[in-house]
Amino acid sequence: EKGGYDHYMLKEIHEQPGALRQTLSGRVDEVAGDVDLDVDLSSEVLADVEEIQLVACGTSYHAGLYARRLLEEFADVRVTVEVASEYEFTGGRDPWETLVVAVTQSGETADTLSAMRKAAKAGARTLAVTNTVGSTAAREADDALYIRAGPEIGVAATKTFAAQVTALSLLTVHIGRRRGALSSERASNLLENLRGLPGAVQQLLDASERLEAVASEYVDEDAYFFVGRKLGAAVALEGALKLKEIAYVHAEGFPSGELKHGTLALVTEDTPVLTVLTEGARPKETLNNVKEVESRGAPVIGFSSYDAAANYLDVEIPIPDLGALEPLVANVGLQLFAYHVANELGRAIDKPRNLAKSVTVE
Ligand code: M6R
Repeated sequence: EKGGYDHYMLKEIHEQPGALRQTLSGRVDEVAGDVDLDVDLSSEVLADVEEIQLVACGTSYHAGLYARRLLEEFADVRVTVEVASEYEFTGGRDPWETLVVAVTQSGETADTLSAMRKAAKAGARTLAVTNTVGSTAAREADDALYIRAGPEIGVAATKTFAAQVTALSLLTVHIGRRRGALSSERASNLLENLRGLPGAVQQLLDASERLEAVASEYVDEDAYFFVGRKLGAAVALEGALKLKEIAYVHAEGFPSGELKHGTLALVTEDTPVLTVLTEGARPKETLNNVKEVESRGAPVIGFSSYDAAANYLDVEIPIPDLGALEPLVANVGLQLFAYHVANELGRAIDKPRNLAKSVTVE
């Protein structure tokens, strides 16, 4: 049942290329630079949208943070992302001008459903981005976009995060094109990168043994910091959550520029820093941050498409060129790192203590 893997989590990490092909299947027209999503968001509807509000919890919230950058860059629309349990509807003058997107793998998370209901009650249009056909979120929202990742058994969300970001990338193209904000050339470029995504993820999966060795070298440290910029910052948060959740060690993720505003005081040779260094996200500045932690003796593990970084990294895991999707590819490396650390520590990886797959209380 685990397909020869020791845990569902590892199986699901390895299922990512196939899951992503499913997310994309039949939805992409690369030549026209457009997508075909089975949603009711027409050009007329989208022309009226002044703001998109993404609401979600945990890993799905991190997918929302990633999507916010994509929507801002490629669809030229104002976007907010909020943890669902903190959400209050603050629409403009006309609630219908706000599109509220609930990102939820299960479609049953109580906090997310409650946020969505607040928005619907106020008169906003709602869209559920979910893995689960027939889930409460899918039924209650005005529209649903399925991420098609297949069932995920491990409590830790892995392939569903990748599929969420992929589906939200398609949604970005859909919205950008229909709002006249995205040229077919730029859209084709993003879609070409999406086509390359399963193969790029496979390259990281092929580095699994290497990451296992890295994990055993850096297991049992005081704390772990995860940093990156822009899209890389979303992934840094996700990498830290994964490690906390399944390895029960302290980890913190944040935008790399924030290091020098406080956390640097905690950095020692016993606090590995995992960094996402991709071409699209001011890698020079991130490299400066890396130098600061390196000079304090912290081991630096870099997931990098930025060649100039190599000299400053204790471990370099190369990320193939893939534009805005590079951090998503790097995240697969972070998943494997978390998995191997947790495995080394003998944790109950598929069912971490105190946690449930679907959180149905507020
Ligand atoms: O089903 P949802 O996407 O709404 O779940 C949200 C979170 O509970 C979930 O992502 C949680 O953070 C994961 N266990 C993280 O791996």
